[in-house]
Amino acid sequence: MHQSDTGIIQCVTRTLREEDPGTMHATEGITSFKPPRRVLMGPGPSDVHPRVLAAMARPTIGHLDPEFVRMMDEVKDLLRYALQTGNRVTFPVSGPGSVGMETCFVNLVEPGDKVLVCRNGAFGGRQLENVKRTGGTPVVVDDDWGAPVSLDKLEAALAEEADVRVVSFVHAETSTGVRSDAAAIAAIAHAHGALVIADTVTSLGGIPVLVDEWGLDAVYSGSQKCLSCTPGLSPVTFGETALEKVKARTSPCQSWFMDLNLVLPYWEGGARTYHHTAPINPLYGLHEALVMLTEEGLEAAWRRHAENHAALVEGVEALGLTMLVEPEYRLPQLNAVCVPAGVDDAWVRTEALKRYELELGNGLGALAGKVWRIGLMGTSCTPANVSLCLDALGTLVPEAAAR
Ligand SMILES: Cc1ncc(COP(=O)(O)O)c(C=O)c1O
Repeated sequence: MHQSDTGIIQCVTRTLREEDPGTMHATEGITSFKPPRRVLMGPGPSDVHPRVLAAMARPTIGHLDPEFVRMMDEVKDLLRYALQTGNRVTFPVSGPGSVGMETCFVNLVEPGDKVLVCRNGAFGGRQLENVKRTGGTPVVVDDDWGAPVSLDKLEAALAEEADVRVVSFVHAETSTGVRSDAAAIAAIAHAHGALVIADTVTSLGGIPVLVDEWGLDAVYSGSQKCLSCTPGLSPVTFGETALEKVKARTSPCQSWFMDLNLVLPYWEGGARTYHHTAPINPLYGLHEALVMLTEEGLEAAWRRHAENHAALVEGVEALGLTMLVEPEYRLPQLNAVCVPAGVDDAWVRTEALKRYELELGNGLGALAGKVWRIGLMGTSCTPANVSLCLDALGTLVPEAAAR
């Protein structure tokens, strides 16, 4: 360090001490953070495989380094496999699932556009917020929390409302554990001339997400659920009809960061141009997680989720507990188990963490205190974790009932 640098640092330190002695004191005793080793069986994140963590620990290189660009192209191909799409525009947005969600809405919704939101849980509610904030005119089709999107209600609403430009829905509602019929929703929307935005944050990698076969126009997902990468990346894909709507916009996209016209030159083309500094090491992690998905195979991954879910449900019911959702709509990766009357749901979750290092999810919104959300996502979806969870519930629920 140069003498002059030292001088500056001393000067800054003195200023901090003089003006805000608390700031200096507050760092005493703080050393490296060493998280406990938990088993993550909540609504996400799921356990991250050591291979993914090891990939993320590799040397950081420049975000325009030719080797990095080569890896970016592989990530796009791997995502096309995961999403079962040939869409050219398929890439991970730098940001969590919420940023992928906003990327879809800010690009596809112009002020005044009528957007029909299917809301059957918390995340449909967030889609509605996005529509309002982009200046769209929302039409809401509500279904009960715990039920799938009603196709009849959707059809009736579209028959009544002229000029709906976009229909949005959540394929796998993490707040309730419900799967909606994505193919049927897309078919109804298209028959009425509307584009489809689908939330696949919790579905991707755990149950089929067949973007091309189902005709989903814009899709966003998340890295931290059934893909078992760390949180903070959001795969998205846009079909040609959606891109035409983006091209035909008469008003600029409300977000600079999420404007597809600005971010795509970084993700595609021969000469990549700087848009933002990509989260380089997390992208190594996503690449590895997707390589692992190809090694297992999508169908095998779906089967593993279905099998462990069946074992969990059998065990839960053997303990005298009930599932919130009807069998045909249940998500294997997110199991909403009803909290029995007289049982303190938070006490059970706290004890599970203390005694078993096991994270279980709480109920959200209308289901707060009423369900546990048990995730079987990606790396966390194993027979050993099913047994651990059943052991914990088998011990803790009777104790909670007796308190
Ligand atoms: C269905 C669904 N959509 C969107 C999100 C938002 O994702 P993130 O928390 O990564 O922003 C989540 C997160 O749990 C989700 O489950």
